[in-house]
Amino acid sequence: MYKDASTRKPITVTTLAKMKRDGEKFAVLTAYDASFAALLETAGVEVILVGDSLGMVIQGQRTTVPVTLEDMIYHTRLVARGCQTALVMADMPFASYPTVEQAVYSAARLMQEGGAQMVKLEGGGWLADTVRQLSRNGIPVCAHLGLLPQSIHKLGGYKVQGREEAAARQMIDEALALQDAGADVALVECIPAELAARLTEALAIPLIGIGAGPHCDAQVLVSYDMLGITQGHRPRFSKNFLTGCDSLQTAVETYVRTVKTGEFPSPEHCIA
Ligand code: KIV
Repeated sequence: MYKDASTRKPITVTTLAKMKRDGEKFAVLTAYDASFAALLETAGVEVILVGDSLGMVIQGQRTTVPVTLEDMIYHTRLVARGCQTALVMADMPFASYPTVEQAVYSAARLMQEGGAQMVKLEGGGWLADTVRQLSRNGIPVCAHLGLLPQSIHKLGGYKVQGREEAAARQMIDEALALQDAGADVALVECIPAELAARLTEALAIPLIGIGAGPHCDAQVLVSYDMLGITQGHRPRFSKNFLTGCDSLQTAVETYVRTVKTGEFPSPEHCIA
């Protein structure tokens, strides 16, 4: 069903934009090292996110807040070495983009020293100037909206975002402002499926969802959650794809296939 990894073309922002236009869904997973990145790419994952979730799943921290730019550069470099064709997206960690200038500096390091091909940053309309300047500097950007794990101490917990109509409307307006500023991709975390459907419709750029229902253009999960490695709490919207599979490869292939067909996420993995 999928092209052999050696014959695949590299995934670029143009590929993702075309997939959105053609109504073809794509699969995203996190990786933090070369071996995992190669495995995900071989299984057909189009975008590999070096997430600051590494703070929890690799470093054993309670939140993503302690993750540093040096940590992100190190893990991005490992992932980039394992990839031939997947697009490598790296998280800008907590407090690495307080000003436009610092954002360009941090993103440039992730690209030059880490090998990232896109950076992701968490926030709303207040980041429009930052996104514009990154874009002008040739840096592809993913705008992360909805639940913002880096702001967990301000939010007071991991809560569903955009439930009220006013908050939903504001999220759509802010996503559009970030798109206008030059964002290439948007990502929403932990929002009602109905709001994600409205965002997918409103945005010309691809929308990646996590805990955001089946209507997004793409899905992302933390690989350690979807392979059952994470100990303790696993988010309700995640799923253990290793259950019933005989290898990691088959589990990831199942994830890719069910994202593309729209079977994942099913209603039990959605927020109403
Ligand atoms: O850090 C991460 O893994 C993420 C995903 C949860 C989207 O940002």
